[in-house]
Amino acid sequence: MNTEYNSETFDSKDYLQRYYQTINGHQDENYDNYFIDQLLDVINHNEINGSSLLDVGSGPCMHTAIISSKRFSNIYLSDYLRSNREELTKWLKNDQSAHDWTSFLEYISKKESSSVEEISKRTKESVKGCIQIDVNLTNPLEPNWFNQFDCMLTSLCLEAACPDFDSYNKAIENLSNLLKVNGCMIMMGVLGETFYRVADVKWGCLKLEINDIKQALIRNGHEVLFYNSQKLNNKESDTSDCNGLFIVLSKKK
Ligand SMILES: C[S@@+](CC[C@H](N)C(=O)[O-])C[C@H]1O[C@@H](n2cnc3c(N)ncnc32)[C@H](O)[C@@H]1O
Repeated sequence: MNTEYNSETFDSKDYLQRYYQTINGHQDENYDNYFIDQLLDVINHNEINGSSLLDVGSGPCMHTAIISSKRFSNIYLSDYLRSNREELTKWLKNDQSAHDWTSFLEYISKKESSSVEEISKRTKESVKGCIQIDVNLTNPLEPNWFNQFDCMLTSLCLEAACPDFDSYNKAIENLSNLLKVNGCMIMMGVLGETFYRVADVKWGCLKLEINDIKQALIRNGHEVLFYNSQKLNNKESDTSDCNGLFIVLSKKK
């Protein structure tokens, strides 16, 4: 099981092919459109406000920014790995070799009743940068410095980046320092997962229950505004062993 992230061992292209070829995710995992549908709802929550958003551990993925750009005009994508940040930049710069997010854009465009072109343009204009982050550092964005953000969003990152509950808790504390008081944090991820596969590497994952996430947020001074979780009845698979999905919206008090 690998836990040491570096650009040579994490295959960004394979990750995208495997999990983001279609809006339904990997067939073994049976996500359906869970994260997209949940995020499309949560992003409209009336406690969410402001214009700046930090997307934490974006990986090579644009779908969260495509959705959050409806509310936020000042978005920073971030990831630990240079290779993932390069993939994001390719899409933002219309590079021919970028991942194709059309099926996501089409689905979101139907839900929002705006065109694919409008949403794509809005996303590219809203993303102001794609920066290095390490959630395990007290200042995750060092050596860069930013004013605190109005909102923070993270998808499938903390359970991958944190080897145990102490570091998970600390990562939420580290990220909370970058969030304004009354700022919202949207966390999405997997439950009960101990590994996920990318190319021929099995990556370790912190096995979470929904209460672990809520408790870690409350312990770090957040109020949980909304949460949803869904059980998955997946067959044993070589792709991952997750048995549920979650989304939590919290507010820093
Ligand atoms: C499973 S991927 C999730 C990617 C994407 N957000 C998604 O929803 O599919 C986990 C991501 O966490 C990133 N990561 C690993 N360690 C990290 C750390 N210490 N700080 C921030 N991100 C980290 C990896 O580079 C990878 O992109």
